Amino acid sequence: MRRKNLKIIHKINELREIIKNQHGSIGLVPTMGALHLGHGSLIKKSVEQNDFTVVSVFVNPVQFGINEDFDKYPRTLEKDAKLCKELGADVVFAPSADEMYQDTQELTLVCPPYSAINKLCGKSRPGHFDGVATVVSKLFNITKCDKAYFGQKDAQQLFIIKKMVKDLNFDVEIIPCPIIREEDGLALSSRNSYIEESKRADALKLSKALKWAKELWQKGIKDKQTLCDNALKILEGLDVDYVEIVDPETFEDYKEGDKRALMLIAAKVSPSNTRLIDNMEL
Ligand code: PAJ
Repeated sequence: MRRKNLKIIHKINELREIIKNQHGSIGLVPTMGALHLGHGSLIKKSVEQNDFTVVSVFVNPVQFGINEDFDKYPRTLEKDAKLCKELGADVVFAPSADEMYQDTQELTLVCPPYSAINKLCGKSRPGHFDGVATVVSKLFNITKCDKAYFGQKDAQQLFIIKKMVKDLNFDVEIIPCPIIREEDGLALSSRNSYIEESKRADALKLSKALKWAKELWQKGIKDKQTLCDNALKILEGLDVDYVEIVDPETFEDYKEGDKRALMLIAAKVSPSNTRLIDNMEL
């Protein structure tokens, strides 16, 4: 593995200066930090595919609702930088909120269309995807990246970003990356650290429900209600936000007869009230 000198940059102008002197391709991996091997897989791919990799670490206040976990979101920059260095990234871009936003009340927002946000996570988290689309647009403009890496773990986010890039003609190629899981199936997430060890079995119910639905689908059960009901049975004991099935390309509701189907789940694990998401193509 190439060992490079990782730079940690906090200022937009400083990053722009570094980018200006780059002649090869630039890969961007946008993150909110508390990095794990799911993020790591994105970073690895960017390092393989580009001459220069920027990992942004920014807990973006604009994408959190007022009752969400912005304040308690884990911040572990030193550890994050260590992983980025090990994986061969060139820059960690970790701006402050003030550096990114002079005034969040008077901010020009990038707003995905209602049809893309009135379902799934967008429905339960009003304003969330406006915040995501806005910060990702800013990161594209700041880094002038050629490619940007997003995990399929956040499937609706990936769908919205791909649509934004097409609709707004961003000259960036979006590279989707598969979900990285623990051996037992739990999808890696920065929020897993909120879950008590004794509640791990509850957290595992999401991937178990998805796997069971996939098994049923492969046995020929294509009825949406039956698939969702079976998943819901496994999710018993959790505070389920949604179990849905959509077309993985268009994110329109699945209809019987569709060739492809993506099941998505969001549910909260108590007593920490940790909201987990997961999805699987059936
Ligand atoms: P964050 O939750 O830190 O995730 C950063 C990226 O890592 C996202 O593209 C996410 O899908 C991906 N990722 C997370 N867990 C993963 C896993 N287990 N396997 C594969 N990829 C995984 O998503 C965000 O941050 C923010 O919304 C952001 C895009 C940075 C904008 O603020």
